[in-house]
Amino acid sequence: ALPTVRHRTPMLSLENVMNDEELREWLARIQKAAPEGASVPFSVEHKMDGVAVSLIYEYGVFSMGATRGDGTEGEVITDNLRTIRAIPARLGGGAEPPLVELRGEVFMSIRAFAEMNARRGGEGRLFANPRNATAGALRQLDPRITAERPLEIVIYGTGALEGLPQPTQDTLFRELLPRWGLPAPRFYRRAANPGEILDTYRRTQAERDGLPYEIDGLVIKVDDLELRQRLGARSRSPRWAVAFKFPARQATTRLLDVELQVGRTGAITPVANLEPVPIGGVTVARATLHNPKEIERKGILIGDTVLVQRAGDVIPEVLQAVASRRTGSERPFRMPRDCPSCGHEIHFPEGEIVPYCPNILCPAQVMGRLRHFAGRRAMDIDGLGEKLIEQLVEEEGVATPSDLYHLSLERLAALDRMGEKSARNLLAAIDRSKERPLARLIHALGIRNVGEHVAAVLARHYRDLDRVAAAGAAELETLHEVGPTIAGAVAEHFAREETQREIAALRAAGVRMRDEGVGADSPPPEGLPLAGLTFVLTGTLSRLSRDEAAAAIEARGGRVASAVSKRTSYVVAGDSPGTKLAKAEKLGVRILDEFGLEALLAEGPRAKEE
Ligand code: IVH
Repeated sequence: ALPTVRHRTPMLSLENVMNDEELREWLARIQKAAPEGASVPFSVEHKMDGVAVSLIYEYGVFSMGATRGDGTEGEVITDNLRTIRAIPARLGGGAEPPLVELRGEVFMSIRAFAEMNARRGGEGRLFANPRNATAGALRQLDPRITAERPLEIVIYGTGALEGLPQPTQDTLFRELLPRWGLPAPRFYRRAANPGEILDTYRRTQAERDGLPYEIDGLVIKVDDLELRQRLGARSRSPRWAVAFKFPARQATTRLLDVELQVGRTGAITPVANLEPVPIGGVTVARATLHNPKEIERKGILIGDTVLVQRAGDVIPEVLQAVASRRTGSERPFRMPRDCPSCGHEIHFPEGEIVPYCPNILCPAQVMGRLRHFAGRRAMDIDGLGEKLIEQLVEEEGVATPSDLYHLSLERLAALDRMGEKSARNLLAAIDRSKERPLARLIHALGIRNVGEHVAAVLARHYRDLDRVAAAGAAELETLHEVGPTIAGAVAEHFAREETQREIAALRAAGVRMRDEGVGADSPPPEGLPLAGLTFVLTGTLSRLSRDEAAAAIEARGGRVASAVSKRTSYVVAGDSPGTKLAKAEKLGVRILDEFGLEALLAEGPRAKEE
């Protein structure tokens, strides 16, 4: 359903080499094409495992973005790419060459991917890996949905350029991209010989698990432009570059049994018990099977030989059964009727894929919520680990996060493996957690669809939990990066009576609920000329980039939202504005052109209105 476009220069792919020997053969061919005895410099980059895109900037303005497609023609995804924060609407440094065609990879960090999938668990629409999730996000017909996905980009090359000479990798990464405000690959080395390339390959492979994003190898490129020309291309891939692949992180092993895990939201996940198998240096004995329907759909039987995949340090997953290895002794998995933690009957909601335990007092859920609340990336309560939470729930009747703030020294010290000193330390840690910034508190509340990033967006905008709670779905939806799903989930969460009770209890216990002071978390400074006004930007401004305009508005206390509503104070319309302008006209929202905005920025709203 997306329109297509012909690429100005074809988007080629890369030939693979799989081992040292193949790499050396490739290098020898390059050396043959180079002048006798010349040393050939290479660039060595991470091969990002994401989705290739092409970006066009005309006279410095981002005008079109497309997928690779078949290499000749791709799909136009301009509006979706505009939602990626790292893609500026305008090249920085005042650059206005007639045409810049950039090539890069859109991807999701492993952490953001895992968080997003965990949030989607309840909705039963899991993505298999960050690459599929990225591809799905880029092909959305509604850019607001794309905006909710944690997409990033790096630029690794150029296509057609007008008004600029073709750069080397080094010039592109170190000069052009920094000046233009576009992200270069985070990993980039120059290598002068095969030894250095192989060394980087080994080192990168050892570091692979710790990387924040998925890579499937290295890309080795000849950096010398003349030599590139001389080497040329085959029909689908250049001769001057090659992908030096890593082994896939998959292995087969036996599925011994399936266990059920109950999460903090009550969602029930089947987990595979596996015959331990090494995958890329880590022994894997458990893997997620996602949900019962998925087991059925894939036809996986207990006792099957299964294909298991691991990515970064997230939970491995079972991909499929190897049916050809069946012996006849396999048996199907039967979903039990009752929750393995509390015995309550499991619910299978109509039209949803993930079964859940509806008992909010279910110990597994209570423990999951406490674990999440105390987690390092939430309220960060040092020393409140798994075992201790179990004891607190089972022996001390702790049922909600606010209960943590009423624990006594005597009771804690009397717990198994505790003692007075650790009890004191824990109480001090619990006390310290009362002062966490609002973003952490919002994350800690465990709202569906709200991970760390969205929590930070909400905190930055509202600075006060009560204001988040009062916002309502329609208003929330006008925030950049908050779409209908998130807005609905937040509004629904705060409308619940048990949420209100818990927030009152946290407040009474002395937990801080607003951000004060200066910095990113500070409240809108009173007395600034644009305080209390909300702006929506649309179209292209000629003298400011969108980011510059937004920064100027925010510096004067105003807010910038992505969608127009009755509450919008001004719509700023540049050249070729979108539907936002029409909507503003319909709703009677005041409209400014670029000069109107500049006057407002210089003099404040009163000067404009008089
Ligand atoms: S250069 C003409 N550099 O790998 C050379 N590609 O199989 C084009 N990729 O479609 C590619 N990281 O999506 C290049 N640092 C990098 C890359 C990279 C990931 C992807 C790209 C391309 C595929 C090639």
